[in-house]
Amino acid sequence: MKTLVCYFSAEGHTKKIAEEIAKNLEANIYEIEPEKPYTKEDLDWTNSDSRASKENDNPELRNIELKNLDIPNWDEYERIIIGYPIWWGIAAWPVNSFVKSKDWTNKTVLPFCVSHSSGLGDSDLLLKDDANAGDWQEGIRFYQDAPVAKIKSWTDSL
Ligand SMILES: Cc1cc2nc3c(=O)[nH]c(=O)nc-3n(C[C@H](O)[C@H](O)[C@H](O)COP(=O)(O)O)c2cc1C
Repeated sequence: MKTLVCYFSAEGHTKKIAEEIAKNLEANIYEIEPEKPYTKEDLDWTNSDSRASKENDNPELRNIELKNLDIPNWDEYERIIIGYPIWWGIAAWPVNSFVKSKDWTNKTVLPFCVSHSSGLGDSDLLLKDDANAGDWQEGIRFYQDAPVAKIKSWTDSL
């Protein structure tokens, strides 16, 4: 099955897991990148004035402009694995912007989230709503420092 692993990662944890998944599946990989990257200060959820806090408080600020949305051969991928950090219980919103920009028709989609302590919640279902097409499977949650064996047992099960 021709597979693409897409991910957004602000602090590197999701990137590491996405790379492990892509390696295990011999899949191509694509990074979702905001035009304006998040700095350490932007991500400070303890500061109500930080960029992430303001975006969390106001959904209108969550339409994040993304770089390089042109993915070569998008139409040829049958399976998309999509990875994202959890921010305040939901998918980090650059991922919603990505999902809205793509055509998911005829794709099997496997979401995975990465977090410190939260579970998957409804994050996968909310992305599915944004996609409006595709066969979205139930997602899986990885601890941010998940051991490679945990990742392998998931990729082996696919
Ligand atoms: C703005 C922000 C909000 C977060 N909210 C949550 C949360 O609600 N639950 C949780 O378990 N972790 C939360 N985290 C932690 C991240 O989900 C976790 O560190 C994840 O591994 C980050 O992925 P990344 O390194 O790929 O960006 C939050 C982190 C940030 C920056």
